[in-house]
Amino acid sequence: MRVIVCDHYDEMSKEAARIMAHEITLCPKRVLGLATGSTPVGMYREMCAMYKRGEIDFSGVTTFNLDEYYPIRRSNPQSYHYFMQEQLFRHVNIPEKNIHIPDGEAADPEKACKEYEAEIAESGGIDLQVLGIGVNGHIGFNEPAGSLVARTHLTDLTESTIKANARFFKSEDEVPKHAVTMGVATILQAKKILLLANGKNKHDAIRALLSERISTSNPATFLNLHPDVTVICDKEAYGENDS
Ligand code: GLP
Repeated sequence: MRVIVCDHYDEMSKEAARIMAHEITLCPKRVLGLATGSTPVGMYREMCAMYKRGEIDFSGVTTFNLDEYYPIRRSNPQSYHYFMQEQLFRHVNIPEKNIHIPDGEAADPEKACKEYEAEIAESGGIDLQVLGIGVNGHIGFNEPAGSLVARTHLTDLTESTIKANARFFKSEDEVPKHAVTMGVATILQAKKILLLANGKNKHDAIRALLSERISTSNPATFLNLHPDVTVICDKEAYGENDS
């Protein structure tokens, strides 16, 4: 696992955007796995700026997002559909037909999950998957548990994630109790993985990830099974100043 420790959030975001741009320049038809949450916001901002400067062309790119709350309307400002439109999609030239996000409105979520997996396979698989990490080590919405689920599935959110994500909603009661997420095997099947983490509250999760021990109590630790993972974090998440 490669670890890049940056001085601060902006540097981390620029480094991540540079890696994304490099991938797209190398192969304009890249299939990107995208993440939501506050962590990648700076990376998306940089990617939009690079697009405006003519440094990236997204016209051949296909995207698959990691997860979405369930149930949630796409028009809800807290949905990941809305987030992606605001942070990236409406600013760049990714063709709409190439954009995929798990469906928070699906009448039959299990069927929708199977279709999502099929779409990923049909695209040739994800070339580069971006990940954030939950304070409890979740990736996507694969929460700590006695066992993990391999493929895209409907899952319950843990109390700690509902509490952590309540900051984006008017109240904790409004946080959906479920989500649709890629499974751990879906994530591990990406050819490359880029995990971003910043801030002190991510320190324990990052330490567990870098401890090289694999446990379902910290789903991110399964990334140790992958041959090409880059972690970009700031000093606080890495804990460089710890005594
Ligand atoms: C959310 C998302 C994850 C994200 C994580 C961290 O619940 N499902 O994909 O990586 O939690 O969020 P943040 O970046 O806001 O700390």
